[in-house]
Amino acid sequence: KVYTDYFFDEPAFNTHDGGYIPLEVYDAPEKPLAVPPLLKPDKETATDTYYTVIAQTGESQLVPGAKTKTWGYNAPLLGQTIVFQRGKHIHINLKNELPELTTFHWHGLDVSGPITDGGCHAPVYPGETNQIDFTLEQPASLSWLHAHPCPSTAVQVWHGLATGVIIKDDVEAKLPFPRNYGVDDIPLILQDRRFHENNQWDYKADYDPDGVQGPTALINGTVNPYFDVTTQRLRLRFLDGANRREWRLHFSDDLEFTQIASDGGVLPEPVYLTKLMLTCAERAEVIVDFGKYKPGDEVTLYTDDVPLVKFKIHDFKPDNTKLPDHLVTIDDPDPSPDTPIRKITMDGMDEEVALNGKKFDMSRIDARQEVGTAQYWDITNTNSTKDGMVHPFHVHGTQFTIVSRNGHEPYPNEHGLKDTVGVNPKETVRIKVRFDLTGVYMYHCHIIEHEDGGMMAQIESYDPKHPRQYHLMDMNTL
Ligand code: C2O
Ligand code: CU
Ligand code: CU
Repeated sequence: KVYTDYFFDEPAFNTHDGGYIPLEVYDAPEKPLAVPPLLKPDKETATDTYYTVIAQTGESQLVPGAKTKTWGYNAPLLGQTIVFQRGKHIHINLKNELPELTTFHWHGLDVSGPITDGGCHAPVYPGETNQIDFTLEQPASLSWLHAHPCPSTAVQVWHGLATGVIIKDDVEAKLPFPRNYGVDDIPLILQDRRFHENNQWDYKADYDPDGVQGPTALINGTVNPYFDVTTQRLRLRFLDGANRREWRLHFSDDLEFTQIASDGGVLPEPVYLTKLMLTCAERAEVIVDFGKYKPGDEVTLYTDDVPLVKFKIHDFKPDNTKLPDHLVTIDDPDPSPDTPIRKITMDGMDEEVALNGKKFDMSRIDARQEVGTAQYWDITNTNSTKDGMVHPFHVHGTQFTIVSRNGHEPYPNEHGLKDTVGVNPKETVRIKVRFDLTGVYMYHCHIIEHEDGGMMAQIESYDPKHPRQYHLMDMNTL
């Protein structure tokens, strides 16, 4: 079966919200797509890998004329892609070369909070270096690293502090997927900005409490990119890295593609699509088969009717690899029947946003859940269906599964592990959450201005045999 329509409710698409800024084609020549280089470890042994991640300022030639002032990780903009091998012990120096404090949040990684996780409670002050270490025990996926200082996550991500994190494992390594990074396996970080005078970005001028947008799409930081296709099959790892924008992806000729992975790893079964919508922070890995094209042809990736990336077809060896019907099995035990259902409401828009009627407080733990035990969470978007928004709900430190949407089956591409789920207005999405590590974790809307605006809360994952006290910072101790 091939799905030929978006799964999300059409009325809830962000075009229906008053503040929506449509994308436009920027008047500049096309450029080769920037593919972020892989970050080289400082040192590697059979069991341990060491990295240094530097948050830095820089300048980037994005459009003709003046360079744009940007921020990035080990790069002037966005960053180098970090690769972690499952099971290895990872050590990271987190170095802050910015003029202000930042944090290094590992979005999608099963690492302990609140410090290693890198949310608000783990500031690295300018000029300083902090160390973290962890062992990853989670499936292969595309996750990401982004800044998360509260309440300036949005502006720091807007400056460019976001980069891809690829986790590898032995299960994914045996599947017939393209995985030659930069050749037939590429990340596509989807973002949008507005170029102001002198080609600068101006967060304040563009500010909107419902999420900052710009009319120009940047893919891995490239305006009007093209990519030279030299293999029949190409794996695209999409990451919605925009502060607020949803992407409605499709190709010219309605070319069919196959989704093989979601946020937290490979899907149980491949899903065949011609249209795919992503909300903020969501990831989707797809395989595109260019078998019916010949050298000289071009295939364009669009969002709505705006071109994002042009794929230029070159000579390639025939590759008619077929995917198996079953890809992976997901370990996903049910909660015990007496476990209550956690109820969460995502409320309001603009400055009024809240979770369960409350604004975020760094020093308040809003909920507790026993480590290692599953619980159902019912996430309700209380916005009106007339002029409300899709709120992407995200939980730190875990990968959950989606059980239902308003009591119905989740979307066909929602049977895998997720850390972010788009919730339509007046919809209740039931997810099944388990934390494998103790700690304090944030959960929030991933429209980043909503998160900064207080649509966020924290949960402690606790071990009844080893109670712990957390000395949480408050906004004033930062
Ligand atoms: Cu992308 Cu609090 O996270
Ligand atoms: Cu996160
Ligand atoms: Cu929101």
